[in-house]
Amino acid sequence: MQAGDGYPFYARPRYPGGRPTVDDVVKMRARQRELGVPEALEWVHETTPDLLGVAREAGLEVLEAPLMVLDPRRLPEPHPHVRLLGTRTPEVDVVAQLAFSSPGTAKGEAGVAERDAALAVATPMPGRHRYAVADVPGEGVLASGTAQRAGDVVEVVGIGTLPAARRRGLGGAVTAELARDALAHGAELVFLSAGSAEIARVYERVGFRRAGTACVAAPPG
Ligand SMILES: CC(C)(COP(=O)(O)OP(=O)(O)OC[C@H]1O[C@@H](n2cnc3c(N)ncnc32)[C@H](O)[C@@H]1OP(=O)(O)O)[C@@H](O)C(=O)NCCC(=O)NCCS
Repeated sequence: MQAGDGYPFYARPRYPGGRPTVDDVVKMRARQRELGVPEALEWVHETTPDLLGVAREAGLEVLEAPLMVLDPRRLPEPHPHVRLLGTRTPEVDVVAQLAFSSPGTAKGEAGVAERDAALAVATPMPGRHRYAVADVPGEGVLASGTAQRAGDVVEVVGIGTLPAARRRGLGGAVTAELARDALAHGAELVFLSAGSAEIARVYERVGFRRAGTACVAAPPG
């Protein structure tokens, strides 16, 4: 239940497996509490369809996130101000934190001033993935994202744009750059799960298409 680099991993059903029951999920939650890890469960709806009702009956809230796969032929041209980073920088984390504090795709208040205030007290964190940022002349880093790899498969995660810098194509461009880099390093499959249908549109525009539904379950709140 503990991933190699020490962060707690969610539970997932065995595949192929039997028919999950409410009791299975209740027992799983008890075991997670005992281990002191989050009561988290994730699965692909199309491979374990019965789990959706079961998880809800067992008291979990389930986000049904569009699961999307890259069609490499549909990747757009590189963006002039988006670049790859081989290391995790404080900008990557600070921009993602500010972005995820304003969910959805709408523009908002927080921008470069809030970013710089947070950067002044940020400490670098270790990271072993690939990162990309939109670093715009005169404005600095406005959007960031991460790509994590397991064998031939790469997942794009943590795409975020400062609320004040949204709707300029930066989130899509960061996603595309991470995908391009994954392909250049031999990835056979690049995928992501979008937080909502409106967020999925951002990824569709840069070459991803919906392949299924990722279910992300956690206790209410
Ligand atoms: C989702 C998110 C990363 C998108 O970032 P973004 O930089 O605004 O993304 P883009 O600019 O590429 O696309 C957003 C919208 O702007 C539009 N757009 C793109 N380029 C544009 C331009 N030059 N001028 C005007 N609009 C533009 C897109 O068409 C899209 O419109 P739509 O919502 O109607 O489909 C951002 O809203 C965010 O950080 N949200 C909170 C964190 C989050 O949920 N992350 C995703 C987790 S899966």
